[in-house]
Amino acid sequence: MIAYYNNAFLEKKDIRISPDDRGFLFADGLYEVIRSYQGHLLRAKDHITRLNYGATHLKLSKTDFFEFEEIAYELLKQNNLTSTPATVYIQVTRGPAKRTHAFPDPVTDLTLYATAAAFDAASALKKQEQGISVITVPDTRWARCDMKTTGLTANILANQTAVENKASEAVFIRDGVMLEGTHSNFMAVFDDVLVTSPLTNYILGGITRKIVLELCKKENIKVEERPVFEKDILSASEMMIVGTTVEITPIVKMNHAVIRDGKPGPVVRTLQDAFKGFLAHEKRIYNR
Ligand code: PDD
Repeated sequence: MIAYYNNAFLEKKDIRISPDDRGFLFADGLYEVIRSYQGHLLRAKDHITRLNYGATHLKLSKTDFFEFEEIAYELLKQNNLTSTPATVYIQVTRGPAKRTHAFPDPVTDLTLYATAAAFDAASALKKQEQGISVITVPDTRWARCDMKTTGLTANILANQTAVENKASEAVFIRDGVMLEGTHSNFMAVFDDVLVTSPLTNYILGGITRKIVLELCKKENIKVEERPVFEKDILSASEMMIVGTTVEITPIVKMNHAVIRDGKPGPVVRTLQDAFKGFLAHEKRIYNR
């Protein structure tokens, strides 16, 4: 497997990252996951814009990473992934330095890393067709969830709790508000209105969330970006998670209770169809 590491394309097994790297010592870094549809990276610029946003807020020595789009396409090519479902993973850390909490002085070179891997689209599709089971968990994360940092301890623990409960995802609840999943955004439908948490420091501004809100406009589905309260959730007619790897996946069970009839509802189906059409359109534009 060929990976990208600090300006070079190398065999992944030959890459050596310093144990002094602040990514290793402090999780002092950022990441992105971009989906590739048969060689087309979906909304790569939006993902990298979010990386740049995180870099600005982490006060990294560099805050423009748009070169990763070309690197990502090169990784797909070098790993023969241009005609299959794939994902590209990008990570940037503050780099190797003597361990001090404050930033290294003088500034050290950032560590830049990226890989491409085949994506199991069939099992994602199965979940999208049948719907998934989720649990809810208290949100124990910090207050800057708008940055996609590699510090994912709370997300890992919550997702493991989901797995132990035979669920696919855990939805974080903070102060009675259902915010988002461990690796996805959360949406619910009340009286034909799609409701999802507004963009605040308590959630990640998902690229798929943004696409879904665009699709709602096209499909004349009303949207309200406002808090979804846990106390109201049982009156939702539908629920779903959205994200790069889950796309649009309906929730049919929450905390072991069946939602409605246990089948994906009409709004999620409309959005899944619209998403398919959107992907076909995107590919036509970019492959011209
Ligand atoms: N996670 N919220 C959180 C906490 C996430 O980690 C993610 C994505 C999302 C959805 O964002 P997007 O639509 O841009 O993928 C929301 C990636 C896929 C991951 O951690 O693997």
